[in-house]
Amino acid sequence: MEAIVECYSGYTYAQEPRAFTWRGSRHRVTEVIAAWREPSGPCFIVRANDDRRYELRYNQPSDGWEIRDLTGLDKEVEITMSTVATRERVAERVRSVPPSGIRKFFDILATMKDIISLGIGEPDFVTPEPIIRAGIRSLEKGKTGYTSNSGILELRQLLSRHLEQLYGVQYDPETEILITVGVSEALHLAMLTVVEPGDEVIVPEPCFVAYKPSVVFAGGTPVAIPTYVENDFQVTAEEIEVAITPRTKALLIGYPNNPTGAVMSRERLLEVAAVAERHDLIVMSDEIYDRLVYGVEHTCFASLPGMRERTIHLSGFSKDYAMTGWRIGYACGPADLIAGMRKIHQYIIMSAPTTGQMAAIEALKSGEEHVQRMVAEYDRRRRVIVDGLRAAGLPCFEPRGAFYAFPDIRSTGLTSEEFSEKLLFEEKVAVVPGSAFGQCGEGFVRCAYAASLEDIEEALRRITRFVKRYGG
Ligand SMILES: Cc1ncc(COP(=O)(O)O)c(C=O)c1O
Repeated sequence: MEAIVECYSGYTYAQEPRAFTWRGSRHRVTEVIAAWREPSGPCFIVRANDDRRYELRYNQPSDGWEIRDLTGLDKEVEITMSTVATRERVAERVRSVPPSGIRKFFDILATMKDIISLGIGEPDFVTPEPIIRAGIRSLEKGKTGYTSNSGILELRQLLSRHLEQLYGVQYDPETEILITVGVSEALHLAMLTVVEPGDEVIVPEPCFVAYKPSVVFAGGTPVAIPTYVENDFQVTAEEIEVAITPRTKALLIGYPNNPTGAVMSRERLLEVAAVAERHDLIVMSDEIYDRLVYGVEHTCFASLPGMRERTIHLSGFSKDYAMTGWRIGYACGPADLIAGMRKIHQYIIMSAPTTGQMAAIEALKSGEEHVQRMVAEYDRRRRVIVDGLRAAGLPCFEPRGAFYAFPDIRSTGLTSEEFSEKLLFEEKVAVVPGSAFGQCGEGFVRCAYAASLEDIEEALRRITRFVKRYGG
């Protein structure tokens, strides 16, 4: 006879049981001793009104309950209970990732007033007017539904043209471009698509805080390799090659770099490309800051000979077009990899925000003059902040891209976390400890110059005072 379990919610498998009918008699549940979830569904150990213990186990495939009388089976109950006791509610892959070092800092910052923030890695510019208008217009025209999973075709076509014009690399808009919820989503999709459990992904540090977690969430192992100020924070082919093992599946690089502002030279990238070729690595190249370079040229990794077929090019609109809140990014790559990413995207996202995509179309059509204007302004601020930090007594590597300066604070004798915390509390200036971007970021702090020139100048006065106090 079929077992029937009655639950408080009325959903037979979602909530705690209050009664069950088994072998022809109905039992009232007087106590739920344990509750946990198996892949096949929820399980409970309960005491019933006949003072006996029962195990109620839902079996999703057969859509039915299996019930056992556990009374007298004390050993078995004990074993089950100890398994339950050690079963964590939050999965190991999530527990193993520490909270972002940046977040902790911003939580403190949010409670304070009159702070000059050089902490946040986003443009202080508002999205250019024509792009905003395009977003509004699309809403007014009633474009409020989903788009194609891959993103609006016109946007993919414009991107294809854009990348060909800038870097001479060609992508088929139908099969080789996917529009995502920022580079953030694209990064995770790339990892989930490429990484098998136990695979290693090489990640040069210091780097964007999401890189290593994206590998862990995909079941892989991030292998961090340090880069050094003496080497302009550029990773070398030799450093990558030394870290390669039989389990190495991919390499994740991000240049122009957050947090150092480093840009890789074409020569260095060609050497990295040769290593990728030799060891058959997939390369994920996060080029979200590609347009924000000063006095140097950005090299698109996929445009290097032989690299298009093994590279997932990640980029987006957040930084170059001051569109962080619109949440539009994209991934370009060989059709098989993009198809894998699209499959995951289609199940977890459906489609990137429609209004954001409409705005991104306008960004590609008319945004160039605004990009140029913002780049010129960032460059002006870059000069001021680098000179100011150096004058304050902090050696500062010359950043050639993105909008970050990464001064060396070791002369103060403080750790990067102490420096950032004291500077915040004593001088009300927010910067981010270099250690938040990887161990080798220790001894440095990240100062974003996506702030007004007046704020940068005032922050520099305060930093100068602070460094003097700590004998830097
Ligand atoms: C290097 C890098 N990649 C990706 C992102 C995420 O950008 P998005 O807004 O496109 O998700 C950021 C944001 O700070 C970043 O610095």
